[in-house]
Amino acid sequence: MTSPHAFQMRSRPRRTRRSEALRAMVRETTLGTGDLIWPIFVREGENIEEPVESMPGVLRYSVDRAVAAAEGAAALGIPAICIFPYTDPSLKTPACEEAWNPGNIANRAIRAIKAAVPDLAIMTDIALDPYNSNGHDGIVRDGRVVNDETVVALVRMALAQAEAGADILGPSDMMDGRIGAIRDALEAGGWQDVAIMSYSAKYASAYYGPFRDAVGAAGALKGDKKTYQMDPGNSDEAMRMIARDLEEGADMVMVKPGQPYLDVCHRVKSEFGVPTFAYQVSGEYAMIEAAARNGWIDGEKVMLESLAAFKRAGCDGVLTYFAPRVARLLSA
Ligand code: PBG
Repeated sequence: MTSPHAFQMRSRPRRTRRSEALRAMVRETTLGTGDLIWPIFVREGENIEEPVESMPGVLRYSVDRAVAAAEGAAALGIPAICIFPYTDPSLKTPACEEAWNPGNIANRAIRAIKAAVPDLAIMTDIALDPYNSNGHDGIVRDGRVVNDETVVALVRMALAQAEAGADILGPSDMMDGRIGAIRDALEAGGWQDVAIMSYSAKYASAYYGPFRDAVGAAGALKGDKKTYQMDPGNSDEAMRMIARDLEEGADMVMVKPGQPYLDVCHRVKSEFGVPTFAYQVSGEYAMIEAAARNGWIDGEKVMLESLAAFKRAGCDGVLTYFAPRVARLLSA
């Protein structure tokens, strides 16, 4: 009797792709709501939800609206939000004093959200750029971003955020020695339980453009950030940054941007086995949204696929502006 099939193969990998049931059984990694950290922008005023032009679908919230947004995120099961301030230009100075003002817009948002939704983890950003009249992450003297003086300012900023109720501090400035200095200050100040997620491998990237718009730093920035953020050609250096930050007291580490640096994410997770996160940055978001809004890609599917890739690469979670949309889809 002749077989109805042309070949008699033993291995037919398509067998486990035949139906959604079998695909689900063999799926190696999945994206869940617990993987999401939602970055939000806060600004002065009341009852304001202001669109960010270069990030369609993303809003700047006044503190009262940020509280409502945080409540919504918590109700969707999102475990954490990350707060970024849009600072009034009149408050930006070369010494960046507003960065450690306990009453600055970011610290007020932390307090208000912590009071309203205590179980939602609040992450912060530590860098001087939203408060700096020249848009840099550090203090500039004679045209150079000075390291150690900046670290002193960052420690002040960190303590003000811890005091306001932040659960996770996110140093994104790429100065040397800042993780150790912040960790020591937290220990000394009685903030032993405050976690640090270090932006350890943060690249000097062109993908941050829309974010600088969102925090109002775009016009301010003089020059570029290449003397402190990493060169996009480097991967071994990223491993050294991770090792250093862990040694200095970071609890979690981050790679940023995300999708163009998935190889780095994978290396970090396989070499260190520590809580590893990626930031799907503003430019990544804007590209997906722009193509979707033009009808060139299926935005929803690309959003989910782009985020699933982080899990496959080894990340434990991802900061993404898509967080509430994904959470809504996953709960549907
Ligand atoms: C601040 C900071 C930046 C981002 C997060 N924290 C911008 C920068 O370094 O210029 C970018 C986030 C994004 O693009 O979504 N240092």
